[in-house]
Amino acid sequence: MTYNAFYGTIVHSISLNQLDIVCNGLLVVDNDTGSIVTMEREVEDVVKVLERLDRPYKLHRLTPQQFLFPGFVDTHAHAPQYVFAGSGMDLQLLEWLNTYVFPAESSFKSPAVAKDAYNKVVSRFLRNGTTTCSWFATIHLDACKLLVDTIEQLGQRAYVGKVNMDQNSPDYYIEPTEASLNDTREFIEYTQSKKTIITPVVTPRFAITCSSALMHGLGKLAQEHDVPIQTHLCENPNEIDFTCSLFPESKDYTSIYADHGLLGEKSYMAHCVYMTDDEIDMLAKHNTGVSHCANSNFSLHSGVCDVRRFLNKGIKVGLGTDVAGGFAPSMLDAVRSSFFASKCTLMAHRDRKQDYEHLGTAELVYLATLGGARVLGLHDTTGNFVVGKAFDALVVDLDSQGPVDLMGNETPLQMVEKFLFNGSDQSLAHVFVQGRRVAGSMSSP
Ligand code: GUN
Ligand code: FE
Repeated sequence: MTYNAFYGTIVHSISLNQLDIVCNGLLVVDNDTGSIVTMEREVEDVVKVLERLDRPYKLHRLTPQQFLFPGFVDTHAHAPQYVFAGSGMDLQLLEWLNTYVFPAESSFKSPAVAKDAYNKVVSRFLRNGTTTCSWFATIHLDACKLLVDTIEQLGQRAYVGKVNMDQNSPDYYIEPTEASLNDTREFIEYTQSKKTIITPVVTPRFAITCSSALMHGLGKLAQEHDVPIQTHLCENPNEIDFTCSLFPESKDYTSIYADHGLLGEKSYMAHCVYMTDDEIDMLAKHNTGVSHCANSNFSLHSGVCDVRRFLNKGIKVGLGTDVAGGFAPSMLDAVRSSFFASKCTLMAHRDRKQDYEHLGTAELVYLATLGGARVLGLHDTTGNFVVGKAFDALVVDLDSQGPVDLMGNETPLQMVEKFLFNGSDQSLAHVFVQGRRVAGSMSSP
């Protein structure tokens, strides 16, 4: 029955264009619930304010080099692919899947392989400040349960999907339609029965590896259990051609998912690099979100996604590392890659003598935190520091131990920018999820 109180600079997103920088901020966390109970600005006499509280508190005074920042939300990552992250980046999507991804994922039939890899990847993501992550696992029910157990133990907020694939897959990594649906149902019930901060998510890999019967069945399962749906959409030109040839009765790639009951307000689609205006309108109509995976789009030379097309239509957008299509298990990298993708789009517009605004600092912070929370439908739980939300937070420390040098005359906004572009896991003194410290480069506060 105690409180943790943080006093100092607090930075968070209010909306796409509003970055709120609070000086002399006081944020109080209820240690029983892990929720934020107070958030005050411009507090002069912090002890006087704290003495009004009804319970004992521990006060953490942030140094001038430190600030509180919301935990990152990664809207798309493949946990098993971490085993080869940073290698095998010579191929494009379909060849890359057959050469590197499917052999690696099939090895997760072994619980020993899964246990070791899942411990490493979830620990690494937490160390890098990813307090919420939407994971793809593999087709194996046991290994999927193991991923949920591992995440629970390490304390991350997560969406976890058992991957479904019943066609156009190698014979060593494929499942019969009925088994795929039954295992998915069992996985959803297993995960929901734990009553943790982990949510099961229906996860058809993509239309190529899912029969019409499987996709219809998964749409029904998601509806029955009221769970979200994640998949890949319009990532690569060859993928799009092959997909459309498999489902000629649907108007376009996005319509394939719509026609199978997989588009809705709880659905979110990774990549969306090549979308017609009609397809974007379809996402808007269904209130379906987009996970922007810029590192992956460069690394698999899929293409450059112009996220303004989605933002301009009010579509929910968050960032995804897409490990290991993206090589970096870090949302700081996702921010930087998104920045570069946005600059590439600007240069293409400039060549056509058109105006374009690249993503600015406020937008990048939003996409990496509150925007991702919106994509996952978790905006009432996480993404920024609003009273009542969970304390999912990073204590950023730009002291000289880490990769950032401060000159001492930086504005708070410049400190945030230095963190985004030059920071690393060493800049994260503490990482909290639901008030629980789960990682950090310093000893516990
Ligand atoms: N499309 C289908 N599967 C995958 C995958 O594992 N990674 C990426 N980037 N795209 C996919
Ligand atoms: Fe992916």
